[in-house]
Amino acid sequence: MLPSNVLSKPPLLCALASCCVSLSEAATLFTGGTVIAWDASANYLDIIRNGSVLVENDSVSAVFSGSYNGSLPSDLEVVDATNDIISTGFIDTHRHSWQTAFKTLGSNTTLVRYLERYGTNSPASTMFTPEDVYIGQLVGLYEAMNGGVTTIVDFPHCTWSAAHASAALNATLESGVRSEWAYNFGEYENFTFEAQVELFQDMLGDARIDDSPVRLGISYDGFSRSDRNQTRKVLDIAIENNVSVVTTHANGGVYGAPNFPEVLQTFNFLNQTIPLIFAHASYHSVTDAQLLRQYNHYISTTPESEMHYGHLHPYSHLIMEQQALGVDTHFTFSSDILTQARIWLQSARQTFYRQVVDDRHIPADNPMSVNQAFLLATRSGALALRRSDIGILAPGAKADLLVWNGRAPSLLGWSDPVAALMLHANVGDIKHVMVDGRFRKRDGVLSVEGYEALQDRFLESANRIQRVWREMPLPVTTGESGSGVDFERPVEADIKRGDGTWYGPQFD
Ligand SMILES: *[C@@H]1O[C@H](CO)[C@@H](O)[C@H](O)[C@H]1NC(C)=O
Ligand SMILES: *[C@@H]1O[C@H](CO)[C@@H](O)[C@H](O)[C@H]1NC(C)=O
Ligand SMILES: *[C@@H]1O[C@H](CO)[C@@H](O)[C@H](O)[C@H]1NC(C)=O
Ligand SMILES: *[C@@H]1O[C@H](CO)[C@@H](O)[C@H](O)[C@H]1NC(C)=O
Ligand SMILES: *[C@@H]1O[C@H](CO)[C@@H](O)[C@H](O)[C@H]1NC(C)=O
Ligand SMILES: *[C@@H]1O[C@H](CO)[C@@H](O)[C@H](O)[C@H]1NC(C)=O
Ligand SMILES: *[C@@H]1O[C@H](CO)[C@@H](O)[C@H](O)[C@H]1NC(C)=O
Ligand SMILES: *[C@@H]1O[C@H](CO)[C@@H](O)[C@H](O)[C@H]1NC(C)=O
Ligand SMILES: *[C@@H]1O[C@H](CO)[C@@H](O)[C@H](O)[C@H]1NC(C)=O
Ligand SMILES: [Zn+2]
Repeated sequence: MLPSNVLSKPPLLCALASCCVSLSEAATLFTGGTVIAWDASANYLDIIRNGSVLVENDSVSAVFSGSYNGSLPSDLEVVDATNDIISTGFIDTHRHSWQTAFKTLGSNTTLVRYLERYGTNSPASTMFTPEDVYIGQLVGLYEAMNGGVTTIVDFPHCTWSAAHASAALNATLESGVRSEWAYNFGEYENFTFEAQVELFQDMLGDARIDDSPVRLGISYDGFSRSDRNQTRKVLDIAIENNVSVVTTHANGGVYGAPNFPEVLQTFNFLNQTIPLIFAHASYHSVTDAQLLRQYNHYISTTPESEMHYGHLHPYSHLIMEQQALGVDTHFTFSSDILTQARIWLQSARQTFYRQVVDDRHIPADNPMSVNQAFLLATRSGALALRRSDIGILAPGAKADLLVWNGRAPSLLGWSDPVAALMLHANVGDIKHVMVDGRFRKRDGVLSVEGYEALQDRFLESANRIQRVWREMPLPVTTGESGSGVDFERPVEADIKRGDGTWYGPQFD
């Protein structure tokens, strides 16, 4: 057996640069934990007690219980995980990582206010410098990894100019996160479509990407707009370059933006090999659901976002087999997928229970399991991306993993590790985060050189931005909305006895 909690490295036998390079890629062995592994033959989760995970370079090379039956690499760091839970990292299939500077400003926002104040065509398009985008994106990605998110499908609708786009991509590459960075083709005042195409072609040739956990995809919200020729061009670029993903916002209902499968079908874009991710898709039709199943594309349900903004998700619980989870706008609420999985689990339970109770019957069983929530937060994200190398903890998979402190006060007494994470853990219980075989959080602290200086740099940007936004009047939300649908005031919650509601001010 290996000594636990020891940093064992072979003596430096030579001073050649190649030695040092291989040292930085030392193998890591996490020992003695409970591993939420993936059994490929059973096609299901497999719990390995007294389990160890061997990581070599960017991948997991072995998962085993007890002692290893093979020969371990000589250059090995052993990390004791006794009492801990080891899981794969979470996959976020929809996020706008650039928006960090707005944190807490949108605590009482609605979707219409969001679009006018914080979205892609809001004043952010003129007020954010490339530096604001860069530093917000960078600390936003560290925030995500700190919370156990190891893969992000990023929807960077801050690509208002070549410099802004480059800043967002640079921060993504520097962060070390696994990103399906879906370059956004948008309607930008001073950035023609032709110039956007040229920039994206340059990015596709960026050699830094080949050697990183970043892949380039495309995000696009123009499918249901009138200029079908431009949309056709975007799709041709996607196919010519076999981009990693194409993603869009599909809202619908009172909100419009119906970029649904039925619309993409009119471009013959469902029957090709690039995965499509429809964010929200709350109001998808029966035909949309059939198309998702037929062509194996996914929706990204962002539970907290859909509740916060009022998208709602009336049909999303009915298409869980073509569903993965996302955070969306991390400046407004929880930025971790654990919270999203928990909210979605409990709200789906409520929805399914309601059908029985509305019939005046008593639910005979619980309609959704913690395993299902865990899989939505991990493997389903990988399936949405058609990747077999992430979202699972198994030999051959990428080394994107989390070590949870099994002795944390919130977890003490657990026996089912999946239930422990889904219902009891919080992101503060995450000890270590590894992405692509590299520690990004270690012993509860982000492994980022110069993080404090980055925090200062971010706060300078965020303080300036927040001062401007505080002075900005709220959009008018009375009468008829821009889309012709009437506004209506919701009932305000009342938390005060007597008159008045104590809705209270926003403390910004
Ligand atoms: C790890 O990377 C090194 C250097 O590229 C390579 O020589 C070695 O075979 C790799 N190990 C595994 C297990 O893939
Ligand atoms: C875990 O496995 C190691 C290596 O085989 C063994 O020495 C140890 O006793 C095991 N621990 C438990 C609690 O079974
Ligand atoms: C080691 O164990 C694994 C998993 O049980 C098995 O597939 C493999 O054949 C074993 N290798 C040796 C050398 O016994
Ligand atoms: C476009 O350029 C004009 C002239 O420089 C400027 O006034 C305007 O704010 C720019 N718009 C955007 C969205 O950057
Ligand atoms: C992004 O990084 C590249 C390579 O270091 C650099 O040339 C470029 O200027 C950077 N972009 C921005 C906006 O800083
Ligand atoms: C779109 O392309 C078609 C065929 O190339 C062309 O006839 C049509 O004029 C174009 N429409 C617009 C709006 O550019
Ligand atoms: C596109 O890339 C994926 C993943 O790398 C690959 O599996 C697929 O075969 C490629 N498709 C085409 C048409 O080249
Ligand atoms: C998708 O369908 C269109 C129209 O039927 C056809 O032309 C095209 O070859 C199909 N593509 C693939 C990849 O099957
Ligand atoms: C909601 O927040 C805005 C600031 O963004 C504030 O002006 C407004 O008063 C808040 N609404 C209520 C009812 O407190
Ligand atoms: Zn979004």
